[in-house]
Amino acid sequence: MSDTRRILITSALPYANGSIHLGHLVEYIQTDIWSRFQKMRGHECYYVCADDAHGTPIMLRARAEGIEPEELIARVWTEHTEDFAGFAIGFDNYHSTHSEENRVCATTIYERNRDAGHIARRTISQAYDPEAQMFLPDRFIKGTCPKCGAQDQYGDSCEVCGATYAPTDLINPVSAVSGATPVERDSEHLFFRLGDFGQVLKDWHRAGHVQAEVANKLNEWFEAGLNDWDISRDAPYFGFEIPDAPGKYFYVWLDAPIGYMASFRHFCNRTGVDFDAFWNAGATTELYHFIGKDIIYFHALFWPAMLHGAGYRKPSGVFAHGFLTVDGAKMSKSRGTFIKARTYLKHLNPEYLRYYFAAKLSSRVDDLDLNLDDFAARVNADLVGKVVNIASRCAGFIGKRFDGHLSSSLDQPGLFDTFVRAGDEIAKLYEQREFGRAVREIMALADLANQYIDDKAPWVVAKQQDRDAELHAICSMGINLFRVLVGYLKPVLPLMAEQAEAFLNVAPMTWDTQHEPLLDHAIARFKPLMTRVEKDRITAMIEDSKEDLAGEARATAGATQSGNSPLARDPIAATVEYADFAKVDLRVVRIAKAEHVDGADKLLRLTLDLGGATRHVFAGIKSAYKPEDLEGRLTVMVANLAPRTMKFGVSEGMVLAAGPGGTDLFVLQPDAGAEPGMRIK
Ligand code: 2FM
Ligand code: ZN
Repeated sequence: MSDTRRILITSALPYANGSIHLGHLVEYIQTDIWSRFQKMRGHECYYVCADDAHGTPIMLRARAEGIEPEELIARVWTEHTEDFAGFAIGFDNYHSTHSEENRVCATTIYERNRDAGHIARRTISQAYDPEAQMFLPDRFIKGTCPKCGAQDQYGDSCEVCGATYAPTDLINPVSAVSGATPVERDSEHLFFRLGDFGQVLKDWHRAGHVQAEVANKLNEWFEAGLNDWDISRDAPYFGFEIPDAPGKYFYVWLDAPIGYMASFRHFCNRTGVDFDAFWNAGATTELYHFIGKDIIYFHALFWPAMLHGAGYRKPSGVFAHGFLTVDGAKMSKSRGTFIKARTYLKHLNPEYLRYYFAAKLSSRVDDLDLNLDDFAARVNADLVGKVVNIASRCAGFIGKRFDGHLSSSLDQPGLFDTFVRAGDEIAKLYEQREFGRAVREIMALADLANQYIDDKAPWVVAKQQDRDAELHAICSMGINLFRVLVGYLKPVLPLMAEQAEAFLNVAPMTWDTQHEPLLDHAIARFKPLMTRVEKDRITAMIEDSKEDLAGEARATAGATQSGNSPLARDPIAATVEYADFAKVDLRVVRIAKAEHVDGADKLLRLTLDLGGATRHVFAGIKSAYKPEDLEGRLTVMVANLAPRTMKFGVSEGMVLAAGPGGTDLFVLQPDAGAEPGMRIK
């Protein structure tokens, strides 16, 4: 085909330390529909993605779990790929930014930019945690908001008043890693000189590669000036060491978009597809990135500039979408509307969601609301009530009365032509990512098909003698209309389309196979292609997503007791939200070893067995216990406390003990039957 396009499509790379949730799925479903549509049109199209595996949060999460980051990212990669498969996201390749391909691509892009003079070095001063011995990203510094006085706010912005500020502005800042007070420390950093690319970027934006709303935002950024971008981080960091800067690592956001390229390189290596044809400057192929509106800066400024500076092509399009709300509000763990992909799949058919999102998606950056009542009503009315219904109203007669054979001519060729001709407009809408409008066009056709069947009333014709030919023609017509509709819906509902292809006994449908009717053709037995959304399944999914808040009202009774009670000496602290408490992972552990620590008069060094993993902690219980009395007994530890670097070494958690101190300290002990590794709930 001479007009075959060559298209490479990506979705943003999810971080390798969290689960895929419905908010993520807006993007993967949007991209997958577009990719499947392009493939159905006969274009050479590849859809690649990867896990975004680097950065401080991933490093710390692995530490907290007592595992290497490599183990964490491998586990999450498996979870992510399973979740995506569950939603029929048809990646051609799903890789990781922690890969050799990405190391090579990142190094190339860095070195070419450096050699062209686009990298600067200078020393800057940043917050440093003297206990954990690491520089702190803004999100890892907490303190009191300088504007409104709210406590426990992050180093970059206040969640209470919305103010943004520098971490140095926080009142009483503390490190979220160790609790220590951060100090300022100097370090040399590497910067990408974004300002070198002002004209290149303006020209690129003006050439229509971004949405109109995005172009407006970019103009604001241009007016504010393009600043140098810090692309390096000091050790300890989980990432790629910068080739000519030992002890410095590429910032996660430097090698994340390069992960698109690396995933495609990995794909080309195993398939023989020509990598250069998609990335070299002057390439005539197309490259599109689907992203969320929060990461436009990275994709519409840094990324094209980095590519340009390294002599690669720039994207043909960056398509930003809005955020997901559920029932009109931000997703909430306590309300059960923070729904993980996995939880959804336990209760509901993935294609319900694919359809609902498609019906609400446009090419704009607008947010999208998943209204759960509307979701059920729409899927039931459109897919079950309209589309599947066409087949179920006709298939029985074809099977029973005509031995599964369709008639040799159409009852109403004009109506069939209407369906075929509508394909051009529907294709145009898909191409423009106006999926909601495409779905409305398709449903208007479904209404026509149902109207046709209503008018012809095959169930009446079937009861009358000598009207077999008519019945055959009506039902064959209905099945043919159904087939065209399923073809149009196939990018959205690939799983249902596959079942329909089996029922229709046809090869996988492409956009062009719609043009000719199926005549004199044997079809298979009809099985229901989709069942109704049951409200109680939605309720069960919400319940399943709720993080247990039952303990929220845990009694503080006793606080009024007076005298010498322990409560009076150590009054109950301020209430914490259950959601915060639930973050604490308490485990039964066996004290495998207890040792004196040279030079420490209060501490014992404990080796704890978690039933598979081992942790070392320093516990201030020396005055109350002899080490040998502790060995072998069970106790309880905080297993996910961020490791703290103390004078005598790193403490990887904390054991729980009660009492005022000195010899009056009591290490907690679970009842008989508890085993190392059990979680305290
Ligand atoms: O915002 C995020 O979730 C990032 N992990 C997206 C990266 S997209 C691309 F640049 F890799
Ligand atoms: Zn504030």
